[in-house]
Amino acid sequence: MDSGTAQVKTLGDYAAEHGAVAHSRSKARDDPLSVLDEDDPIFANEDLLRIDHIPEHDKIVGRNDQIETVARRLKPTITGGSGKGTLLLGKSGSGKTLVTRYVSREVEERGAETDTRIGRAIIDCAQRRSEVQTVIHLSKSLNDPQKTGITIPHSGIATGAYYDRLWTVIDKLYDAIIVVLDEIDRLAPPDDARNIPGGGRRQ
Ligand SMILES: Nc1ncnc2c1ncn2[C@@H]1O[C@H](COP(=O)(O)OP(=O)(O)O)[C@@H](O)[C@H]1O
Ligand SMILES: [Mg+2]
Repeated sequence: MDSGTAQVKTLGDYAAEHGAVAHSRSKARDDPLSVLDEDDPIFANEDLLRIDHIPEHDKIVGRNDQIETVARRLKPTITGGSGKGTLLLGKSGSGKTLVTRYVSREVEERGAETDTRIGRAIIDCAQRRSEVQTVIHLSKSLNDPQKTGITIPHSGIATGAYYDRLWTVIDKLYDAIIVVLDEIDRLAPPDDARNIPGGGRRQ
């Protein structure tokens, strides 16, 4: 029995062998924090895996026409004017979110170069399904409470009051804003009972 268990590695042994537990190091280091300066053996640039990572232009393939169209429509914001509402249609994975994030970031940066304060808010409508949720998220994304003195509570005030705070935030902080309503087709109309779990009438 003893000889049998001696050959079976426990999860702890396995973790220790692979350096996943704190007492696994057999060799003492002179400076244990030197690990912070070592290159990551797995990722050359782990940021590339972040969901909000926006690649540079040379990594965006075959979307020059779309980039140009969106850029042309957002261009007026660089001088504090109104951009034009733009709807991007296309198959899932075709780069709509990518193009939108890329161009809006570039426009925001160009604005900063000419001292135009451009705010940018990206709303994932698949996550924020109701109007009030959307207004709250928009207000929070654009607000800087230290500059405006305005707080945006998670709940507890009427939708109209959220709108009031949003307009005040925009007036105080920005010359123009870009709002991206990503996955807008997922925004349910307010009276669409089919989207209430268990509450929909089947037809
Ligand atoms: N033309 C492209 N060039 C480089 N990467 C792309 C391109 N189109 C999509 N991708 C990448 O594919 C993934 C899905 O793209 P995404 O913009 O989310 O598509 P969509 O919003 O149209 O569903 C993302 O990681 C995006 O960076
Ligand atoms: Mg998308």
